[in-house]
Amino acid sequence: MQETVQGIRAVKSYNLEDRMRTRMDENIRDLEAGLNTRARVVSRTGPLMETLGGMAVGLFVIYAGFSVLNGAKMPGEFFSAITALLLAYEPAKRLARLNLDLAANLTLSRFLFDILDSAPMEAEPIAMPALKVTRGEIEFRDVSFEYRAGETVLRNVSFTAEAQRTTALVGTSGGGKSTVMNLIERFYEPSSGTISIDSQDIAAHSRHSLRDQIAYVSQDLFLFSGTIRENIRLGKPGATDEEFIAAAKAAHAHDFIMGFENGYDTQVGEHGAQLSGGQRARISIARAFLKNAPILLLDEPTAALDAESEKEVQRALDDLRKSRTTLLIAHRLQTVMSADKICVVDDGSIVETGTHQELLARRGRYHAFYRLQFDDRNVVNG
Ligand SMILES: Nc1ncnc2c1ncn2[C@@H]1O[C@H](COP(=O)(O)OP(=O)(O)OP(=O)(O)O)[C@@H](O)[C@H]1O
Ligand SMILES: [Mg+2]
Repeated sequence: MQETVQGIRAVKSYNLEDRMRTRMDENIRDLEAGLNTRARVVSRTGPLMETLGGMAVGLFVIYAGFSVLNGAKMPGEFFSAITALLLAYEPAKRLARLNLDLAANLTLSRFLFDILDSAPMEAEPIAMPALKVTRGEIEFRDVSFEYRAGETVLRNVSFTAEAQRTTALVGTSGGGKSTVMNLIERFYEPSSGTISIDSQDIAAHSRHSLRDQIAYVSQDLFLFSGTIRENIRLGKPGATDEEFIAAAKAAHAHDFIMGFENGYDTQVGEHGAQLSGGQRARISIARAFLKNAPILLLDEPTAALDAESEKEVQRALDDLRKSRTTLLIAHRLQTVMSADKICVVDDGSIVETGTHQELLARRGRYHAFYRLQFDDRNVVNG
C-alpha cells in the first residue's frame, strides 16, 4: 500500500491500478490465510480444554462418589474437594492461555532484540581523530569496491582531485560515478585501496569530522518535509536569516521562493514533492552554499534545470567552486568543459584523464562521447 501511494504517479501513468489492486489482494489473502490458521488453532484448543476439563471433573465425581458410597470418605470432604476443583478450573484455563500469549509476545520481542542487537554499520569502536582539511586534495589509490559480493563496481580506481580545482567525472550511466562520491562520504567502505584527503586516510578519521568538511548535492534531490527555510538551514543549523537568504540568492532560488505566497515558510511536502525538480535542485544547492565546506561534491546538480536556470546556477556554482575542491559529475559538455581535469569513468575504471583539449586530442573515449553530443547538437540546430 505504501509503495502504491508513494509511486501513485507511476501507477496512474502506466495504468497499473488493477495490477496493484491484484497484488494487494494477493497479499491481503495471504495475511488472511495466516490469521485464519492462527484463529483456527486458538479456537480448537478452547473446546478441547473445556472437554478435557469436563471429563476430569466427571472422573473425579465418579471416583469420589465411589469413595463416599464405600464409606471411606465423608460426604463433606467430597463437596469441599469438588468446590476446590471447580474454583481451580478457571485459573488453570487462564494459565493455559498465558502460555499462548507469552509465546506470541516472545516472538515479537525476539524481532525487536534482533534489531537492537544488529551491529551498527558505522561503528567507531575507538574515538577516531578528527580530519583536518587544509587544502582539500582528494586522492584515490587503487580503490576497489563492491556493493554485493562478487559484483565489482569499482576496479583499482586511482586519481587525484587537486586542491581548489574542479575535477569532473564523466562516463556512461552505471559506470560508478556516484559510487565514487558515496565512498568519499564514507557511506560505504572500499574493499581495498585507500582514499585520502590532504594525505590523511579518511578511514582512520572520524566520519563526523569528514562529513563536516563536505557539501554534497546528491543525484536524488532529497528534501525533508517542512518549510523551505528549514530545508536550507540544514546546511548550517545556526545560520542567521541574512546568511541563508544570501545562500538562496547565490543558488538562484530566492526569486522563485519569494514568488510563493508564504515565501520561505512554504511547505515543501513529503520528499519535497510539492516543488518542481529544478526548484528542489536549487534548494539543495542553496543548502550546500550555506554549508560553506572546503570540499564540494556535485552529482549532476543542474540535470533538472532548464537551459536558462542552468546557466544561472552554473554561474553561481562557478563562484562557489573557486576556492574549493570540487568533484563534479556531469553529462552536459558545457559543464564538463569548464573543469580543470576530466576523468572518464567506464565500467568501474578510470579509462582516461586530462583536460578537455588533451582528451579531445587523444581521440579516445572522451572524444567519442564529445562527438556524440556535438552531433546531436548539430542535428538539433539543423
Ligand atoms: N546501493 C546500491 N546497491 C547495490 N548496487 C548499487 C547501489 N548503487 C549503485 N549500484 C550499482 O553500482 C553500479 C554503479 O552505480 P553508480 O550509481 O555509481 O553509477 P553512475 O555512474 O553514477 O550512473 P548514473 O550516471 O546513471 O548516475 C551500477 O551497476 C549500480 O547498479
Ligand atoms: Mg550517478
